[in-house]
Amino acid sequence: MTNNNPYNPTLVALDTANLATALNLAEQLKDKVGGMKVGMEFFYANGPQGVKQIIDIGMPIFIDLKLSDIPNTVAAGLRSLLPLEPFMLNVHILGGREMLEAAVAAVNEAEKLGFERPMLIGVTIVTSMQDDDISEIGITRNASDQVIHLAKLAQECGLDGVVCSPHEIAAIKQACGQAFKTIVPGIRPKGVAADDQKRIMTPDEAIGQGADYLVIGRAITRSEQPMATAEKIWQSVRYADLD
Ligand code: C5P
Repeated sequence: MTNNNPYNPTLVALDTANLATALNLAEQLKDKVGGMKVGMEFFYANGPQGVKQIIDIGMPIFIDLKLSDIPNTVAAGLRSLLPLEPFMLNVHILGGREMLEAAVAAVNEAEKLGFERPMLIGVTIVTSMQDDDISEIGITRNASDQVIHLAKLAQECGLDGVVCSPHEIAAIKQACGQAFKTIVPGIRPKGVAADDQKRIMTPDEAIGQGADYLVIGRAITRSEQPMATAEKIWQSVRYADLD
């Protein structure tokens, strides 16, 4: 089956503390990607005002702050982000059921407050951790079983999807259904260096596995021609073969 994707699934990771660099990249890439992602590095340096400047360029934004704290604090933190109207926010699933339910309740207040409701996404186990690291912190399941376990918990609590490695997409879709979103980093087009990512896939392979969004940073932002690279990725996923 061919995909014929109606929307561009690439969220470009603006991993920089420098506002001018981020704005320049966002301007260049706005018609070539589906949205922008800013994380701790950008947010802690530039704050909500910096995020607003990116949003003013006119793209959906994923504010990737991976919140984890007591339920009241996480809910309040999310409420503070709602006026920016991100289309996606995230929390660590390891924060537990009560925290996840409070987080869902907080984003569900968005419309009542006059804002768009963002998708709320759960971080399972960060992809930099492997089985040894997980066992060291006292988790006895292997990484992939733990990821599925956490994805199911996130779904039970009302989250809209999870961040996962491209190699986990199929198992998550099987466990949680096709409508449960997968947001997938670790993406490298053919011939691009893996850098520190350990388990990579090409954009069209990840879409073929059922990925809903691709988080792509360095393959685009460090390319000699970011616009051309982003356009090439879009064309490759637009007509990707679905497994
Ligand atoms: O440059 P690269 O494409 O590897 O960037 C991937 C982006 O996805 C970075 O912003 C990184 O923080 C983020 N990310 C990740 N692995 C996760 C969660 C987020 O690489 N498990």
